[in-house]
Amino acid sequence: MKPLGIPSLDIDLFSESVLKDPYPTYRMLRDAGPVVWIEQLQMVCCARYAEVRQVLDDHGTFISSQGVGFNDFLNNAFAGTIIQSDQPDHTALRAAVGEKLTPQAMRDLQGHVQSQANSLITSLKMRRTFDGMRDLARVFPLTIVAELIGIPQDGRDRLLDWGHASFNVMGPANERYQRSLPVFGECFEYIEWLDKDPSRLREGSLGAALYDAAERGVIRRDQCPRLLAAYLVAGIDTTISSIASAVRLLGQNVDQWQALRAEPVLVARAYNEVLRIESPVQAFKRVTSRDTELSGVTLPAGSSVAVLYASANRDERKFTNPDRFDIKRHSAEHVAFGHGLHVCAGQALARLEATALLTAIATQVERIEVGQHSMHITNTVRSLDTLEVTFH
Ligand code: HEM
Repeated sequence: MKPLGIPSLDIDLFSESVLKDPYPTYRMLRDAGPVVWIEQLQMVCCARYAEVRQVLDDHGTFISSQGVGFNDFLNNAFAGTIIQSDQPDHTALRAAVGEKLTPQAMRDLQGHVQSQANSLITSLKMRRTFDGMRDLARVFPLTIVAELIGIPQDGRDRLLDWGHASFNVMGPANERYQRSLPVFGECFEYIEWLDKDPSRLREGSLGAALYDAAERGVIRRDQCPRLLAAYLVAGIDTTISSIASAVRLLGQNVDQWQALRAEPVLVARAYNEVLRIESPVQAFKRVTSRDTELSGVTLPAGSSVAVLYASANRDERKFTNPDRFDIKRHSAEHVAFGHGLHVCAGQALARLEATALLTAIATQVERIEVGQHSMHITNTVRSLDTLEVTFH
């Protein structure tokens, strides 16, 4: 039920036009108030940075176990997964998932990933013009992530479609959701196939580590397939989106590109700025576990709250001139990876892949020229489908 005294907006946050360019709508939502009612979703929404942080940081009140997606089917399918659990269950799941994704584990991989990045950029430079999605942004997430998770070679060609489908079914039950259900089902069938014989996962991989954790009693055996799904779904489209945005933004903003070329040590900072200004994940949901207040608005227990990460990162109350891409800005406080208990478990891996590629580009390429691009619209992750790139 709509709380008293808050603005109500009749907009479709998941329409084609909003997903293509959500920023004017996000600004309108932020300007309307700290908490607004979205008629179409029948839930409150927070689009400003302060409220988004408050919700994410208070994981005891704004819980995830009642579903972070925008429809019941998905929320039931993902029930009990890491992203949809609360403490204390979440603690063991996070330990199992985090074991192989620690900053130290990533540092061990760094040399290998950087040399792969250097070779990839050298070969693209020789080609000069290429599709920045197929030939660059998708390469690492589809090879390195699949390899790390331990997916057998013959399952890898479907990963991209499964990722798109999974992020579509997290949205409301719209046309995009309906269209993606069969593909999402196929992804789950594949995971069941892996689960029947986990030795199909590469030894020593992230996937195999989950089954080891189950053997040691750290997690339950029946939790493994959904954790595997969390890896598959969470780590691919999101990382692809961020790498593509980095290339596009650096190609379009020559002054920023020159600043990065002059000081390649700024790569980590530049990547944070890319994540802030073009956050891959647009929104997830929380549900209140008890009666509470959010910026003076009373929310009874059981209220659904849409949390707009991508809008928070463009909040002018938090970031000065937020629509300007500025790689020297201190944007590390962005919430593109979430915040608090559920903060992205794979962020070190995403950072490793993206910064290796950006370092290779900044040291080998003089100028990036970007041409036509088309978008791949999904309900929750913002990404490109094609991007014409020329390396000079
Ligand atoms: C640029 C790339 C990425 C972005 C923008 C991103 C974004 C996010 C966000 C916003 C959340 C928080 C969800 C919430 O608040 O409920 C999250 C959680 C998560 N991410 Fe990522 N992610 C990325 C890459 C990855 C990668 C590479 C992996 C693993 C291979 C991964 C695995 C996870 C997992 C397992 C969770 C659930 C954590 C928990 O509930 O404790 N992500 N991610």
